[in-house]
Amino acid sequence: MESEGEPSPSRQKRVGRFLLKFFGSTFLLAFSYHLLFSDSTGFFVFSGSSASEIPPAKGGDLRRDYPSMEKTDAPYTLLAEMALHGRIGDSLKGQCDLFSGEWIPNSSGPPYTNSSCSFIDPYQDCLTNGRPDTGYLYWKWRPYGCDLSPFDAEKFLKAMRNKSWAFIGDSIFRNQIESLLCLLSQVEEAVEIYHDETYQSMTWYFSSHNLTLALIWAPFLLKAEIKELGHSQYDIQLHLDALDNTWTSQYDKYDYIVMSGGQWFLKTAIFWENSTVIGCHYCPGKNLRELGMDYSYQKALELAFQFITTSDHKPLVVFRTWTLDHFEYGEWYSGGICNRTEPYKEGEYGGGPVDQVMRGLEIEEFDKAAAVGLEDGTRLKLLDIYHLSLLRPDGHPGPYRKLHPDISKRPQNDCLHWCLPGPIDIWNDILMEIVLKEGDQRSSS
Ligand SMILES: *[C@@H]1O[C@H](CO)[C@@H](O)[C@H](O)[C@H]1NC(C)=O
Ligand SMILES: *[C@@H]1O[C@H](CO)[C@@H](O)[C@H](O)[C@H]1NC(C)=O
Ligand SMILES: *[C@@H]1O[C@H](CO)[C@@H](O)[C@H](O)[C@H]1NC(C)=O
Ligand SMILES: *[C@@H]1O[C@H](CO)[C@@H](O)[C@H](O)[C@H]1NC(C)=O
Ligand SMILES: *[C@@H]1O[C@H](CO)[C@@H](O)[C@H](O)[C@H]1NC(C)=O
Ligand SMILES: *[C@@H]1O[C@H](CO)[C@@H](O)[C@H](O)[C@H]1NC(C)=O
Repeated sequence: MESEGEPSPSRQKRVGRFLLKFFGSTFLLAFSYHLLFSDSTGFFVFSGSSASEIPPAKGGDLRRDYPSMEKTDAPYTLLAEMALHGRIGDSLKGQCDLFSGEWIPNSSGPPYTNSSCSFIDPYQDCLTNGRPDTGYLYWKWRPYGCDLSPFDAEKFLKAMRNKSWAFIGDSIFRNQIESLLCLLSQVEEAVEIYHDETYQSMTWYFSSHNLTLALIWAPFLLKAEIKELGHSQYDIQLHLDALDNTWTSQYDKYDYIVMSGGQWFLKTAIFWENSTVIGCHYCPGKNLRELGMDYSYQKALELAFQFITTSDHKPLVVFRTWTLDHFEYGEWYSGGICNRTEPYKEGEYGGGPVDQVMRGLEIEEFDKAAAVGLEDGTRLKLLDIYHLSLLRPDGHPGPYRKLHPDISKRPQNDCLHWCLPGPIDIWNDILMEIVLKEGDQRSSS
């Protein structure tokens, strides 16, 4: 790939800045190596009921090509420190930090099951698909120094009367919204009122509460032409100077926005700016400049937050941080699995370097936007599920994506999306906490 050539000086500077900020300099070498030689562009993303998967780019031995993907505590320690004492605490202004804490065993189990909720995607319905161990259902997230109330569907629906929500992003939001629909279905069952051709964007309505929940498919947030080439390959033309109008055109309709970027940024893509190709992420043989996935993600975040802070419409905007996968013994395309049955202990795993850089970008851009937003009434909140989720390698479907009597014939493991019920339910517990607290503050001020 062209990246065998040099990254631009400005890029080197940018990368260096992150590394020094988050990882310390010893990590620099390994990471630059990764950026230059990585071909970890592949990822699967389920859209609707069909799974689309990209095979890896040509590359040799995984561990040789991904030296920095080895699990290591070193970068984590810094990140954890940052999480515990720095940024995250700041953004909550003295309130309890819901995002630092621990998973503790709890025998009460999930508030819904495969039998009581009809919204669970068959690909994440681990119970029905025969996952034999159920220990992963008996953990609760306990923030240090405060309690996280279990999801209260009645309270939530009452507070959300006449409101509308949009979740803007990729299939991880489908996963989260299905969890939310299940949690709420204890009080009211939503009715699907809209879907696009591919069922990627969908809308549900709770008539007794006049509440609308929309899932808006915009995996890059940016304008993109995505063509499926067959054999699970995509041709992606990504416009770094324009947002995806799938979401911007309906932004004004919603009272609550939850948004995020994700694994799509790891895929091969051609980058455009001002109607000109300026480079790419992983496009060997195309004679284009390798700019990296953090380049496009930074642009996406910057532009999306700019749109939000300059818009006259001021919904409550919740930005959800990076969610990582837990493949072990290989990557998703090379036999990787996730067969753990318990959470990691604190410090045992900190995420891969790419994950940390992507989350770092999110925090940086979020903070910039929050500072700007203070002046013009923009309401921004962070749903920082990165750390609590990385501790849950046991929460993915793995081979229980689908029921097949012969386990060896089951499709590839899914170590990215989450079983329902499962740890992702906690994201909604926290989301509820954030949103209702914001509501209290607004009504008391
Ligand atoms: C388990 O979780 C439930 C609901 O969140 C809570 O009421 C209960 O106190 C927890 N039990 C223990 C032993 O922590
Ligand atoms: C839920 O999963 C159990 C196995 O854990 C299975 O016996 C049951 O049939 C499933 N329920 C539905 C409605 O599929
Ligand atoms: C919801 O909207 C209806 C109709 O506009 C109105 O009568 C009602 O007071 C609203 N309820 C709340 C809680 O805003
Ligand atoms: C539902 O909520 C919308 C938005 O607040 C409001 O305009 C509408 O009147 C409400 N409808 C009912 C039936 O309450
Ligand atoms: C965009 O391209 C046009 C024509 O190629 C050029 O005149 C203009 O200066 C460019 N704008 C930016 C912001 O680069
Ligand atoms: C997970 O799979 C690996 C590789 O097959 C095996 O060595 C390990 O014991 C398994 N772990 C569990 C908890 O089953």
